[in-house]
Amino acid sequence: MSKVIPLKWKAGELLILDQRLIPREEKWISARTHETVARAIESLAVRGAPVIGIAAAYGVALAAARPRASRSSVLAAIDRLRKTRPTGYNLFWALERMKDRVESKNSLSATALLSEAKAIHREDALACDAMADAGLTLIENVESVLTYCNTGALATGGIGTALGVIRRGVRTGKICEVFACETRPVGQGARLTVWECVQDKIPVTLICDNMVASLMASGRVDRVFTGADRIARNGDTSNKIGTRGVASLAALHGIPFHVVAPSSTFDPALASGEEIQIEERDPAEVTKCTPGLTELKRVSIWNPAFDVTPADFIHSIITERGVHRPPFDFAR
Ligand code: MRU
Repeated sequence: MSKVIPLKWKAGELLILDQRLIPREEKWISARTHETVARAIESLAVRGAPVIGIAAAYGVALAAARPRASRSSVLAAIDRLRKTRPTGYNLFWALERMKDRVESKNSLSATALLSEAKAIHREDALACDAMADAGLTLIENVESVLTYCNTGALATGGIGTALGVIRRGVRTGKICEVFACETRPVGQGARLTVWECVQDKIPVTLICDNMVASLMASGRVDRVFTGADRIARNGDTSNKIGTRGVASLAALHGIPFHVVAPSSTFDPALASGEEIQIEERDPAEVTKCTPGLTELKRVSIWNPAFDVTPADFIHSIITERGVHRPPFDFAR
């Protein structure tokens, strides 16, 4: 269990914890339309691949509950939600599931769509528990681990993916120390992972992203756990920008690098990571993350939100079905 909850369904509205304000403030956005949900996803008020899928599913349920909702208005809402963020697969997976529900009945049922959204939410929580158990089978002694971005309760319907393994590892005494990378430019590690760890009393040490090589060279990291936004059939994995660097350094230092993700992150249509569309975000995210740089107007800035870690750098991929080892073949 975690004290942290990113979404709550309450009598016809979706309450979204505004993650842009964490750790300064805990403020909830009240979403009564799919458009509010779509904007919350685009602006990173709700972020992290699994919870984006869950929020979008509730967005479809909200669209179906509108007065005069029809099958075509709900399908239009699904199309709008699809356009919010391109890389994380869970969004498309959840919307496909909601679309199947819309199309499987003769008449539109808002109640059936809400139950489907709740089922997606519940199943993700169960998947997090199963991944935590599977991930911990890899650890025999007491270890120190490193993680990247935020993959915890804020990013999922349960205790988290990579941070779920870590959370349970700390609780059961298998993990004694957690290093969290800052994760520039948006700071999901510094702001969100550290906040979650403090809430749940997980011993955490924050490092800047450029300290990973030195930390690994010092021998203080036994293992790396990260999440994923989309996984191709060959195991190539997209995750937050910077993950590829961490994975390369782990390979260089002989440190096992594990990806933790539910099967809703696997895109069976993609043979390799080269086919993954990488979202590029507003350059202002980069200027804002360094005090004083907001005045830089004429400098060219590249701001990809994700990168692809080649399967060769991945020791294992942990899903709710267990631990998968290379060579990966996730064809279904
Ligand atoms: O841009 P974000 O914050 O949505 O990116 C999140 C990540 O990259 C996470 O590591 C990933 O979604 C896994 S979350 C369980």
